[in-house]
Amino acid sequence: MDQIAIIGGSHLEGDIPISGAKNSAIKLMAASLLTDEPLRLTNMPRLADTRFLGNLLRRLGTELTETNGPDGPQTVLHTPEIVSAFAPYDLVRQMRASFNVLGPLLARTGHAKVSLPGGCAIGARPVDLHLKALEALGAHIDLNEGYVYAQAPRGLRGATITFPFVSVGATEHAMLAAVLARGETILMHAAREPEIVDLADCLNVMGARIEGAGTPVIRIVGVERLNGATHAVTPDRIETGTYALAAAMAGGEVRLTNTRADLIESLLLKMEEAGVEVERRNDGLTIRRNGSRLRAVEVETDPYPGFATDLQAQFMALMTVADGESVVRETIFENRFMHVPELARLGADITVSGGEARIRGVDFLQGAPVMATDLRASVSLVIAALAARGETIVNRVYHLDRGFERLEEKLSACGAKVRRLKGHMEAEN
Ligand code: EPZ
Repeated sequence: MDQIAIIGGSHLEGDIPISGAKNSAIKLMAASLLTDEPLRLTNMPRLADTRFLGNLLRRLGTELTETNGPDGPQTVLHTPEIVSAFAPYDLVRQMRASFNVLGPLLARTGHAKVSLPGGCAIGARPVDLHLKALEALGAHIDLNEGYVYAQAPRGLRGATITFPFVSVGATEHAMLAAVLARGETILMHAAREPEIVDLADCLNVMGARIEGAGTPVIRIVGVERLNGATHAVTPDRIETGTYALAAAMAGGEVRLTNTRADLIESLLLKMEEAGVEVERRNDGLTIRRNGSRLRAVEVETDPYPGFATDLQAQFMALMTVADGESVVRETIFENRFMHVPELARLGADITVSGGEARIRGVDFLQGAPVMATDLRASVSLVIAALAARGETIVNRVYHLDRGFERLEEKLSACGAKVRRLKGHMEAEN
């Protein structure tokens, strides 16, 4: 298993190009099942998660062609016909958002059998809202032996669906199913994440009629068929925020390009409050920090446009060396503090009580072997290691590879001492 070794203490100077958003790309790939014409996605990230979903889509009948053209990495997905409406457990468990093929399969063929995704390291993560939305659209759903059996032999029909709380996945799933339903669907209390807007934009270019994406009320008028299209994946806001925090942690000056500052405004405001200099530009942003000590600040995760839960671990890493006591409240997932004991191995002083972590800033962190537990937790360890004295070895790097493209290359290009140790035995933890 690969490891990442980081020697802390180097300032970061240079440019980091941001990739297309993982969490958008995988929903856009699922959307390709809705048409028998090719969907060309540009600005595609090349990640383990997009590879996992690609493997599943091939089983369902999709031809995937990946190229690296002058416009960057592209994937063309073409499903002339659905050859199987069955998504097996072995493929869905590798990447839980694979579950979102259920809606498109149902909308296109009238039936589907898709494995339930199960829980994950950050929480139980049920899919009850997804299933209720599909039922509201007229699907008949049975659960048996870990599988969802869904039927809509006469097609789906529009409905008004009010989500009891904000769910990104359920909002996307309802959109993916409703675009081909008969009549009008209204989604109330919908998620407003940029990935929702990106999915709606892509579906609209494919011929769908969606209004209101990015607001709490989304209106979808069903159409009979969708066509092929070309769509550029929106920049990855979590990758943007992660490198912004990495630059703040290490110090120096880093330009993040091919992205947008407004995607992470709630994070940038907190970083400024902590004493980091942020310059918002048309083509991205610049993060600067001279040697001065950061100030402790409080953050609470919330659905977009609030502070992203996917940036909580990385922000906590920054706060480990801030002056004073900061508070981080996690309100989205019940078990998303797995990085705390690992940050403590590096010398961080953190106590957790329920959904609240209190971080008392220390003068310095000290490198140590640590273990990645999930995607965002693992990158928080990389951020901490950038400022730690000595060497940190991050084990279980496969978590990082799920969502960060060429991480060590992007950081090394700015002067960080980061290298991948191929196929190493795990260090004792
Ligand atoms: C998406 O997960 C992202 N994943 C997550 O990123 C992100 O943390 C999350 O949204 C919140 O922003 C993808 O887009 C692939 P939710 P999702 O439905 O859609 C509960 C990463 O690291 N819930 O908004 O699964 C749920 O348990 C990942 O890239 C139900 O109870 O998140 C959670 O507490 C991690 N029933 C809350 O809602 C449901 O049917 C919000 O989850 C659905 C969700």
